[in-house]
Amino acid sequence: MTADENELLTRVGPGTALGALLREYWHPVLLSSELPTADCDQLRLRVMGEDLIAFRDSAGRVGILGERCAHRRASLFFGRNEEGGIRCPYHGWKFDVDGKCLELPNEPNPEPIMARIRQKAYRVEERGGLIWIYMGKRAAPPPLPGLEWIDLPGVQRFSAKRVQHCNWLQALEGDIDQSHVGFTHRRLDSNGRLSKSESVDRIRAQDLHPKLAAVETPYGVLIGAGRGADNDQQYWRVSQFLLPYWVMTGPYGENPSRQIRAWVPIDDESTLVIAVTFHPLDPLPADAIERMRAGAGAGYVGEANFQPPGQQAYGAWMPKASMENDFLMERKLQKTSYFSGIREFWAQDAALQESMGRITLREEEQLLQSDIGIVRVRRRLLRSIVDYRDGKGAPPAVDEPEAYRVRGAALLIEPSTPWVEGSEDHRRVVPGVNQAGV
Ligand code: FES
Ligand SMILES: [Fe+2]
Repeated sequence: MTADENELLTRVGPGTALGALLREYWHPVLLSSELPTADCDQLRLRVMGEDLIAFRDSAGRVGILGERCAHRRASLFFGRNEEGGIRCPYHGWKFDVDGKCLELPNEPNPEPIMARIRQKAYRVEERGGLIWIYMGKRAAPPPLPGLEWIDLPGVQRFSAKRVQHCNWLQALEGDIDQSHVGFTHRRLDSNGRLSKSESVDRIRAQDLHPKLAAVETPYGVLIGAGRGADNDQQYWRVSQFLLPYWVMTGPYGENPSRQIRAWVPIDDESTLVIAVTFHPLDPLPADAIERMRAGAGAGYVGEANFQPPGQQAYGAWMPKASMENDFLMERKLQKTSYFSGIREFWAQDAALQESMGRITLREEEQLLQSDIGIVRVRRRLLRSIVDYRDGKGAPPAVDEPEAYRVRGAALLIEPSTPWVEGSEDHRRVVPGVNQAGV
């Protein structure tokens, strides 16, 4: 990877090639519960380097506007959310969810001027318990991606967020990196040796260099990690990378719940991680939700492990563990119980990803076969960026919501069966069916 390619893959602001590509997709940015009621307090947001304000109006509609007032750029964070719009407290201009100017009280003859004034406003949708934004060029935005959980009843989903202080791509690369799992997340027994408790852990532990493979799909990349299992079978975990930044990993056990994560760029140097756990058929058990709230499972920061909420963008989602305190790493733990020395699962990843610097220098890496999934994803992204920049049509899958109706898989396959074919039935969304994981 050259330094120029790295620039192309990482810069997300307005006017960048990646920024233009990303803006054609819908982005989840808030949980609906963060704007709980009509006329509640507005929130600061930052998406792909743009400062924004989100509010819910008196009719319950969500608006996402540019943070700075169209008049003389005062922040609408200080504004008043009242009767169908947000009012700038500097000179009283008032805007609705579409950015239309409703009142211009400091002007004697406002009507003709009001028609011309527009506050920057983006299209918003509220689905799947999330608030989505479209920041692209189309007058009529594309449909939302057809991810299966978007239309499930709320009791079948759990979502949470956190902020990570590095570029979106190196964070996402950790999510598709199957070869780190047996190291970064390994638990040790009391003698400092590898714990052999669980079968999946055991398979992983016995084979620290899985066979890695990746193939392109119309919507992204399929990444497989194969390991030798008992009875001459192959244990395959198949992750889905879906453009522009969704990752679905394989499930565990019978009738499993499933996980997906979005790595939404806040700007070039920080990322909003949205994790959703869902069950295609049943409500999530209360004790499972309790555990996720407490921080169990990949991707979740326990509610007690966040800093007190601040008023900055995503200020409620800043974990206490951070680079400033070395993610609460303890050398003693590293010798006795956690390979990483870090207790919180998400932090085991985040520590290493942030330790590369805010934007890693990909031109200084040395990649091996084990990095094949990451290489394929970078190539897929690079080609999408360049093709879109060069006018070769809409970004992949933007107009194909059905392309997103897929699942991650984890299964045992006969060694003679190729993994892509062998996992096909497990990767399909079939109504009423929830394929088992391993
Ligand atoms: S700056 Fe907002 S009304 Fe003047
Ligand atoms: Fe990880």
